[in-house]
Amino acid sequence: MGDLLSKLGEQNFLNKEEIVHFLSHLTAETKTRLFRMADETRQLHYSKSVYMRGLIEFSNYCRRDCMYCGLRKSNPKVDRYRLTEDEILMCCEEGYALGYRSFVLQSGEDFTFTSRILTRIIQEIKRRFPDSAVTLSIGERDEEFYRKLYEAGADRFLLRHETASRSLYESLHPSMSYDNRIECLHTLKRIGYQVGAGFMVGLPGQTLEHLAEDLLFLKDLHPEMIGIGPFIPHSATPLREATGGTVEDTLVMIAMARLFVPDALMPATTAMGTLDPIGREKALSAGANVVMPILSPLSVREKYALYENKICTGDESAHCRHCIEMRIVSSGYRIDLGRGDHCSYPSPVA
Ligand code: 5AD
Repeated sequence: MGDLLSKLGEQNFLNKEEIVHFLSHLTAETKTRLFRMADETRQLHYSKSVYMRGLIEFSNYCRRDCMYCGLRKSNPKVDRYRLTEDEILMCCEEGYALGYRSFVLQSGEDFTFTSRILTRIIQEIKRRFPDSAVTLSIGERDEEFYRKLYEAGADRFLLRHETASRSLYESLHPSMSYDNRIECLHTLKRIGYQVGAGFMVGLPGQTLEHLAEDLLFLKDLHPEMIGIGPFIPHSATPLREATGGTVEDTLVMIAMARLFVPDALMPATTAMGTLDPIGREKALSAGANVVMPILSPLSVREKYALYENKICTGDESAHCRHCIEMRIVSSGYRIDLGRGDHCSYPSPVA
């Protein structure tokens, strides 16, 4: 097993059989070595820095029906909301005053936010905060839409591939196309966005082969950002009885992804913090290097429930910042409030 880990460390690659073999024979000792190697690998490109992004969940309307997600359109229990343009800008104002220079605008697939509206919002954020980066996480749109928002000033785009297995993807996403999802990621890259892909761990029916395919997919795509989190069953979805992912299994996949794509920016996800009070700290020591505190208004936080018992729904933004910063520093890392671009993108001078 040590041999495969050394090979992964040297070559940043294992083939599918090797990955499956490695994952199915993991000992506690190998795991400790894996996490340490992932931590050291992150430091080659980003030293001890942990990049902060202010997350603004601006709409929980969604036209999709993903089997795992609490915001799926056929969940009637969701109290749906949309922030106004002014409310979104106020979240950025508050975040900017707290020191954030990187904002993530996230929503369900809500077509009420047209390219015209989003263009106006992005342009206004860029006008008021020219030294800040804007990331979109709004789902699948066509190329022209993505281009307009890039031209409006959006820097990055998060679109998890969710799983690289076509059959698993199709079983979880009724009436969605695996090919289209992957095509979107390629389109976003071609346009010039810094792109984030990623997947969930512990999905029903997910095997080690599937997880190996996720790692190989990421190796091939080479995204700038990789979001990996445990699947957490939501009681108002068809997968309410499923088991869900564990923090331990997710840590292994974070560390593996770090070794496969050494220069990626990888968040310690809120889902990790939800399953384990120190889940995000554990993710940082397994190779993650981004944290995304929530800036959404307190009044809507609980309504943005992809899964239940999400942490930080009751905290003021300032409280969030201080709480997470304390955790990062006590884990031995350094807070970076700047734009936090991928290391191959020189930060533009504002
Ligand atoms: N548990 C964990 N993660 C989830 N996501 C959606 N629903 C859940 C859930 N029940 C993830 C998906 C999506 C991201 C925004 O949140 O991977 O891309």
